[in-house]
Amino acid sequence: MINILRKLVFYMTGRKLLLPFALLFSALSSIATLVPFIFIWLIARECLNPNISHSLIKSYAIWAVAISIAGILIYFLSLTLSHLAAFRVETNMRKKAMSKLLDMPLGFFDNNTSGRIRKIIDDNASITHSFLAHQLPDLAGTIITPLATIGLLFFFDYRMGLACLLPLIFSLTILRLMIGSRGQEFMNNYMNALESMNTEAVEYVRGIPVVKTFQQTIFSFKNFHNSIIRYKKMVMSYTNLWEKPMSGYIVIINSFAFILVPLTIILLNYSTNLTQTILNLFFYVLITPVFGHCIMRSMYLSQAIGHAAQAIDRLEDLSKTPPLKALDIPIKIKSYNINFQDVSFSYPDSKHETLRNISFTIPEGKTYALVGPSGSGKTTIARLIARFWDPQNGTISIGNNDVTEISNNDLMNNITFVFQNSKLFKGSILANIKYGKPEASMQDIQRAIDLAQCRNIIEKLPDGLDTIIGPHGTYLSGGEQQRIALARAFLKNAPIVILDEATAFSDPENEDLIQKSLQRLLRGKTVLLIAHRLSSVKNADNIFVIKDGKIAEQGSHDMLLLKEGLYHSMWNTYQQSIEWTIGKEAQYA
Ligand SMILES: Nc1ncnc2c1ncn2[C@@H]1O[C@H](COP(=O)(O)OP(=O)(O)OP(=O)(O)O)[C@@H](O)[C@H]1O
Ligand SMILES: [Mg+2]
Repeated sequence: MINILRKLVFYMTGRKLLLPFALLFSALSSIATLVPFIFIWLIARECLNPNISHSLIKSYAIWAVAISIAGILIYFLSLTLSHLAAFRVETNMRKKAMSKLLDMPLGFFDNNTSGRIRKIIDDNASITHSFLAHQLPDLAGTIITPLATIGLLFFFDYRMGLACLLPLIFSLTILRLMIGSRGQEFMNNYMNALESMNTEAVEYVRGIPVVKTFQQTIFSFKNFHNSIIRYKKMVMSYTNLWEKPMSGYIVIINSFAFILVPLTIILLNYSTNLTQTILNLFFYVLITPVFGHCIMRSMYLSQAIGHAAQAIDRLEDLSKTPPLKALDIPIKIKSYNINFQDVSFSYPDSKHETLRNISFTIPEGKTYALVGPSGSGKTTIARLIARFWDPQNGTISIGNNDVTEISNNDLMNNITFVFQNSKLFKGSILANIKYGKPEASMQDIQRAIDLAQCRNIIEKLPDGLDTIIGPHGTYLSGGEQQRIALARAFLKNAPIVILDEATAFSDPENEDLIQKSLQRLLRGKTVLLIAHRLSSVKNADNIFVIKDGKIAEQGSHDMLLLKEGLYHSMWNTYQQSIEWTIGKEAQYA
C-alpha cells in the first residue's frame, strides 16, 4: 500500500498536497456520517424522559441533519480534490510513458504493435485514474469509520461494545484462516487469465481473414476457446473458494444480537438506570452493522489496491527495455563510410544468435549489396546501422565514429531508409512525402514524385497530393505505398541510403523506370542494397552473400559467379525463374 502511494505521489508533480487533503476531507466526512447516530441516541433518550423537551429534540434533529449534509458536502470536496489528483496522475503517467517510448530503440516497436502499446497505456492509466479518484478517498473512511465506531462502542457501555465486537473479530479470524494467502495468489492468476483471454481475442479477430480464406473454423477458435475456459475455471474456483468462508462470515457478523440481547437482559438485572441500558441496546443495534459495511468496503478496496498496483507495474514494464545509450555531447557525422566490426546480435528474448561475427566496410560513395536466403539476417544488418537495436557484441561505425556516439538526429538526417514493407502514416500524400525533408520546395517535391514514378498514382486520386491516406482515407496498394516511400527518399536525398527490397512490390514496368531513377539518386552516395531479384544488385561494387547470420561469400557479381558457390547457384536459380516466366508469357501470348 505504501509502495503504491509513493508511486502515485511521484506522478503528482507539483500538486502533492491534493491527495492528503482529499484523504483528510474524506476522513472528516466519515466522522460526520457517524455523528447523527449520537443525536439519534440523544433524541431517543429525550423521548423516554418524563419531562420531554420538544425544542431540544428539534435542535438535536437539526444538528443531525446539518452534520449529515455537511458530511456529504465535505465528501464532494474530497472527491473534487481526488479527481484533480487523478487527472494529474493520469496525464503524467501517459506523458511519462510516451517520453519513455520516444527513447526506446526503434526495434522495440517491431515487437510491440501500436495497438498493444496504446491498449496498455490507456487501460492502465484509466485503472489508476479510477482508483485514485474514487476508491482512494474511501480509504480514509475505511480506516477512520471502524476506529471511530470502536471508540463509540466503548464509550456508552464497554460490555455491550465487547459483545458486538467479539463476533466481528471471530468472523474475520475465520475468514483469514480459510482464505489465507490464496486470495492474492488467485488475484495474480486471475489477472493473467484475463490478459491471455484479451490477447487471444485480439489474435482471433486479427486472424479472421486467414481463417476465412482457409475455411478453418473450429481449430482456429481453439486457443481463444481455451483461454475463455481457463478464465471461467479461474472465476469458478475463486467463487468456490469464497463460498463457505463468506457465508460463515455474514452469519457470524450479523449474529451479534444473539450475544447482545441476553447480555442486556443480564445487565438489566443489575442496572440502576433501566432506560439508559435499553437506550444503549438501541444504539448498539443501530451502530454495529456499520462495521460489517466497513469491512466489506475494505475488502473491495484491497482488491482495487491490487488492481492499481498491477496497473502501474504493467505500465512501467512497458518501457523496461533499456533506452539507447547516448553521449551528452554526441559526435556529428563527418564522413559516410560504414563499418561493422565483429558484430554479433540476438533479438531481445531470443536465444538464437541472428548475426554472428559480421565484419565488413562499405567505403564512402560505394554501393554494396546484401543477398541471401530469407531469414538469413539481411534486414537485421540494415536495421542495426540505423540503431533499431544495438548489437550485444562488436561495433558499428559511420565515418569512423561508433554509431552509439552519434546523435540520433544526426543519424536519422544522414540516412535514408526504405523499408521492406514501408508504412505510410495517416495524413495527406504531400505530408507523407515531405516528411523526408519538411522545408523542401514544391519543385523538389514534384521532381521526387516523378523520379519515384508516383505521378500516375497521384493523378488518379480525388484530391491529388492532398488526398488523405490511411484509416478512413484512401487506401494504396503495397507497390503504390512503396513508391510514395521512395519519393520521400528521393526528396530527402541523404548521403547514406539503405534500400531493403525497396522495389519488390513494383510491377516490372515501374521497377525498370524506378531502377533508372535510383541509379541517379544513388550516384556518389554510400548505399546498402538488399534485394532478392539479383538483377537489381548485379551492378553493385561489392556483394555480400549472407547465410545463417554470417557472411558466406563476398565479391563483385562476376567474381562471385566464378567462385561457383552459393551466389552462383542462387544466380542460376534466378535465371531459371526468369526464363520460366518469359517462357510462360510466350506460351500465353
Ligand atoms: N523483431 C524481431 N524479433 C525477433 N526475431 C526477429 C525479429 N525480426 C527478425 N527476426 C528473426 O531474425 C532472423 C533474420 O531476420 P531478417 O529479417 O534479418 O531476415 P532477412 O534476411 O531480411 O529475410 P528476408 O529475405 O525474408 O527479408 C529471422 O530468423 C527472424 O525470425
Ligand atoms: Mg528482410
